[in-house]
Amino acid sequence: MENVIVITGGSRGIGAATAYLAADRGYRVCVNYRNNHEAASAVVDKINQQGGQAIAIAADIAIEADVVTLFNTVDSRLGNVTALVNNAGILEQQTRLENLDADRLNRVFATNITGAFLCAREAIKRMSTRHGGPGGAIVNVSSVAARLGAPGEYVDYAASKGAMDTMTLGLAKEVATEGIRVNAVRPGFIYTDIHADGGDPNRVDRIKESLPMKRGGQAMEVAQAILWLLSNEASYTTGTFIEVAGGR
Ligand SMILES: NC(=O)c1ccc[n+]([C@@H]2O[C@H](COP(=O)([O-])OP(=O)(O)OC[C@H]3O[C@@H](n4cnc5c(N)ncnc54)[C@H](OP(=O)(O)O)[C@@H]3O)[C@@H](O)[C@H]2O)c1
Repeated sequence: MENVIVITGGSRGIGAATAYLAADRGYRVCVNYRNNHEAASAVVDKINQQGGQAIAIAADIAIEADVVTLFNTVDSRLGNVTALVNNAGILEQQTRLENLDADRLNRVFATNITGAFLCAREAIKRMSTRHGGPGGAIVNVSSVAARLGAPGEYVDYAASKGAMDTMTLGLAKEVATEGIRVNAVRPGFIYTDIHADGGDPNRVDRIKESLPMKRGGQAMEVAQAILWLLSNEASYTTGTFIEVAGGR
């Protein structure tokens, strides 16, 4: 079976590292992104230059029609999806909960929760043996924030990851007899652009001394856990979580 992977938010950070590693492992790769065409093209070009097969598809996963178009495009250009990494996620300026308005909450939840649900829906329609598919695997990119709560920073973001964790548990059981495994990784403090979006670009270095391993993590260290969960080496593993957080 040809393995076809969709990685939401594959243009940068953890998603880009996952795209490179998936290509190394023989997957045909869809790099989804929202705005940054240049970054997505750079990932895809590097994979294709190294003999892999990758395409970049712009789609805002918070918009249902975009998600449907994304998966239809993957069908026609790469083939039936066998792996989904629900990686795209956002956070906004660090602040306390009393400063959050509905617009911000809806933006964060729309990408981090609704987007992940919609992508899982489209993947299951194609993977599930119930729908005549070959099976597959889904990995949700959650966060240690789901259990730490991100007080004073972004409780909204942390709560969105809590929702993703619950989706992981429920969906894993829902599709367990249909050839689909659903798991999640919970990264901790990883060197990517996301911290600048919270107004704290040096967050990982600021916090690292408080971590048991006294260092931040690299995107590739998260990608390795994701690829293990997707692989047949994890064939009896579903509805579970791998913490990639240096012991925090
Ligand atoms: N970095 C950490 O320390 C850390 C820790 C725990 C969990 N995580 C989680 O890991 C995941 C990846 O984080 P990261 O740090 O690698 O982030 P990042 O460097 O900020 O990259 C975010 C990626 O998501 C894409 N994206 C954002 N909103 C999207 C949308 N609505 N539709 C489609 N794509 C969208 C971006 O596309 P564009 O390039 O087009 O903007 C980009 O590719 C997130 O779910 C995050 O919550 C990260």
